[in-house]
Amino acid sequence: MTKNLEQMKCLFEPQSVALVGASGNPGKISYNILSNIVASGYKGNVYPINPKGGEILGYKVYGTLEEIPGPVDHAIIVVPAKMVFDSVKECAAKKVQVVQIITSGFSEVGNNEEEKQIVKYAREHDMRILGPNIFGTYSATAPINSTFGPADIMSGGVAILTQSGALGAAMIGKTKAENIGLSSIVSIGNKADIDEADLLEYLMQSDQTKVIFMYIEGVKQGDRLVRTLKEVTKVKPVIVVKSGRSKRGAMAAASHTGSLAGADGVFDAIMRQCGAIRAETVQESLNWCKFLSNTSLPQGPNTVIVTNGGGIGVLAADACEKYDVPLYDDHENLKGIFADKIPSYGSTKNPVDITGGANSAGYEKCLRAAFDNSEVHSVICLGCETAMIDVENLPGMLERIYHDYKDTKPMSFSFFGGDAIEKMVNDLRAKGVPIFNETYDCVSIMGALYKNLHNMNEPAEDYNYVNSIKIDEVKINEIVNKVKADGRTFLLAHESAELMRAAGVSMPVSKVAHTLEEAVDLATSMGFPVVMKVVSKDIIHKSDAGGVALDLENRDEVIDAWEAIMHNCRKYNPNAKITGIEVCEMVKSGTETIIGARQDSSFGPTVMFGLGGIYVEVMKDVSFAALPVSKKEAMTLIKSIKSYPLLLGVRGEAKKDINAVLETIIRVGKVLLCCDKITDIEVNPLVAYEEGDGAKAVDARILLTKD
Ligand code: ACO
Repeated sequence: MTKNLEQMKCLFEPQSVALVGASGNPGKISYNILSNIVASGYKGNVYPINPKGGEILGYKVYGTLEEIPGPVDHAIIVVPAKMVFDSVKECAAKKVQVVQIITSGFSEVGNNEEEKQIVKYAREHDMRILGPNIFGTYSATAPINSTFGPADIMSGGVAILTQSGALGAAMIGKTKAENIGLSSIVSIGNKADIDEADLLEYLMQSDQTKVIFMYIEGVKQGDRLVRTLKEVTKVKPVIVVKSGRSKRGAMAAASHTGSLAGADGVFDAIMRQCGAIRAETVQESLNWCKFLSNTSLPQGPNTVIVTNGGGIGVLAADACEKYDVPLYDDHENLKGIFADKIPSYGSTKNPVDITGGANSAGYEKCLRAAFDNSEVHSVICLGCETAMIDVENLPGMLERIYHDYKDTKPMSFSFFGGDAIEKMVNDLRAKGVPIFNETYDCVSIMGALYKNLHNMNEPAEDYNYVNSIKIDEVKINEIVNKVKADGRTFLLAHESAELMRAAGVSMPVSKVAHTLEEAVDLATSMGFPVVMKVVSKDIIHKSDAGGVALDLENRDEVIDAWEAIMHNCRKYNPNAKITGIEVCEMVKSGTETIIGARQDSSFGPTVMFGLGGIYVEVMKDVSFAALPVSKKEAMTLIKSIKSYPLLLGVRGEAKKDINAVLETIIRVGKVLLCCDKITDIEVNPLVAYEEGDGAKAVDARILLTKD
């Protein structure tokens, strides 16, 4: 067992709990925490701490932690901010393993320094900190409710990790109202130390936890989160809601918990890469949690929609496409299942229309036939209220079907209509039947289930191909160190080209000329046409300075270009020190792509891919992934852009060399990973030629750390 897991066990399954700042005043937060601990039936030792001593809720109160006779593995600190550090020191002296700091007033209000010092001290003493700025933790395994939220929590299979305290506390009530049983709920607050990755390590192995739901505002140490999520989602579903999608939302999130919200596109892509299922809203994620924690897994992809209305059938089919629910299309088998059970004017094609004349007996006959057929793996049942439908018998029938088949095949229901239907939906939901008014809600839970199935069936990433690709790490670091020694945080074009060549990326032949004669000689020996670019550490944006000349066909054009570039650049920046002019082979035209790799402030090393030109500038058609990427992940990165068909070749154009692009993505990613002084790499454009002809990078921009 890892040290982290051991300490997380002290959070979720403590043997003894000290409550520092315990008060006998029922109006205070600490009193509510103690009363919740008592109400939850916690069996371990409970030690309230308050210098006043006495007794609270029947427990002897200790003046200090030191006075407690036995060991304490878990402490909860509920004293004002200025006293927290001293209490943390006392906890360390008592060899407490994990400390929850409920107190607010740290990084979320700009008090970063003290928060950092507390965590540093705790880590130096082998102790972990949850929070600060949290409402506490509930764990059904212990059981213990050390929150100051509602006392009444229904135990079950859903674990909730929430960065928002208030939303988390409200979710306790909401889950109860919706009959969703919790295995745990953890308020993470400022995430000064313990973060989602630490908690996921525990939840992955917790038998009580069937589904994990994370409400995230910002990600810190995202590279660890990525590694852990990839493991967890192979074992159980992880559902994510992230706020701060919009610019304004991101700013609000940053001030709420003091963390970086990060770019939403990057977050979205990386969650998909890790197999986490992203929900739009908290309600949607709770619907998914409830369903996924109670249903069986489908044995295959054949979903059948049974409906009494064509309209909602079409809506459901649209929703299936949106949420990736695979629909069953074997017309012969569908006909065999349904033809003798529905009128001739119905439809046995999926969505199966059993017609508006169907009553509950008609529904039951069709549903049983669908469930009993071995080729059908899951069923979505829809209904519109009609005069033909016997609403008094409908709930009983649906409940029977649910109980008869829920352990073998997943199903979801949506019924739409007046008061009686509303009442039926509410009553059945309260009994655990997955039923909704809204068709999209009913389909979206099935979508989450299939996404989870897909994740669990995906083989673990294979890095053999990636490991077989070698880059010259020594040379790359040498080039970077030389630039650093020169006091620069960017590489000049010829240095970037040299570095990329060391990484095995195909770059045009190029050399720096220091005189006009040298430029002419270089161009002649290289072969026309050539490109010329100014080389100056004082001119980064070469085109803006008029420092680039393309497609030079002969000696005279090289001479003209030399003079024009020198003239333009001296005018642009009279003080610029011009080292020379780089003469490069002119790259043949092809399909322009762009590859970027950067140290993301949230996720660490990430890679980006897109098609160049307008596709990246106007359409922002790019995709992202966390590094390192496997061959399959690099392929997903390429396929994720909307303009991917252009690489496959459209309207008679030949397919492009996708393998060469993929290999370059892996090489560029490896460059970023091998040198921690590089912050940004942009290969733009990487020209992809026809399949078999490779790809060539025209330009590379590399930025270094500022320190
Ligand atoms: N050791 C132990 N107990 C002490 C010590 C000490 N060194 N010093 C004082 N105490 C006692 C106090 O005497 C008091 O007990 P009393 O009522 O018997 O006098 C008790 O500890 C608590 O101290 P108070 O000064 O009364 O503090 P209070 O309870 O008012 O507030 C709190 C403390 C709750 C930590 C507050 O500072 C705070 O941060 N509140 C915000 C909490 C919060 O919202 N967290 C985020 C949740 S997420 C969400 O939004 C839901």
